[in-house]
Amino acid sequence: MNLVLFGPPGAGKGTQSQFLIDTYNLVHVSTGDLLRVAVKEKTSLGLEAKKFMDAGDLVPDAVVIGLIKEVMKKEKGRGLLLDGFPRNVAQAEALDRLLDGEKVQVDRAAFLEVDPQLLKARLVGRRVCSKCGTVYNVEMKKPRLSGFCDLDGGILEHRKDDQAEVIENRLEVYEKNTAPLKAYYKKANKFVAVSGVGEPLEVFGRLTEALGEPQ
Ligand code: AP5
Repeated sequence: MNLVLFGPPGAGKGTQSQFLIDTYNLVHVSTGDLLRVAVKEKTSLGLEAKKFMDAGDLVPDAVVIGLIKEVMKKEKGRGLLLDGFPRNVAQAEALDRLLDGEKVQVDRAAFLEVDPQLLKARLVGRRVCSKCGTVYNVEMKKPRLSGFCDLDGGILEHRKDDQAEVIENRLEVYEKNTAPLKAYYKKANKFVAVSGVGEPLEVFGRLTEALGEPQ
């Protein structure tokens, strides 16, 4: 199965991906994570992407489509969980073409619905372990010791694009570019929507109900 997981910033895509990859035996492909690694490693792609990410804008399509091509080559034959890609109709069309070349397709596109006020609270409060990437929230998923990861003691960082002013822009960019994907996947008869509000495991239960039993 190839699954697209989409929704506004802070909807819980990364959180749900961790459950979904185990249940459906998928490779987690987060363009956000791939880009952050490139930024950290200061590759030329990372240096190019950084200014867009810090401002909460979309990185150019050619860059992210190139990343997806690399992953598909490496993970040939395995089912993908696409988290944060595609993010506009041009990327969705490019993905369809790439999968078509492998004689597979997007099987489902699952949309996580969360209202904007809650999204902002989640993003402002998010903290990420600098060592292992585990995601916390200062209000909703507190670490045992404030500022440090429960798993490896790594320092918890606040993403640059999780500052209030950048969040506003990310939400606008989402409405303009990514929300139209709902119509795209409805037309293709692949769209399922679930509420992303409630305990993470409750949301996961809704997702598995909507997606069906693993094959
Ligand atoms: P990306 O990293 O993909 O950011 P995003 O889509 O804005 O999504 P987030 O990672 O912010 O949120 P999420 O939905 O994964 O939520 P999470 O589970 O972490 O992209 C970053 C940037 O990279 C973009 O702005 C863009 O510049 C660039 N980029 C990436 N892909 C691109 C593409 N395809 N094209 C062009 N540019 C691209 O949860 C958030 C918080 O809420 C956490 O603290 C978590 O603990 C908490 N939480 C989650 N679920 C719950 C729950 N059920 N209850 C309570 N709290 C919860």
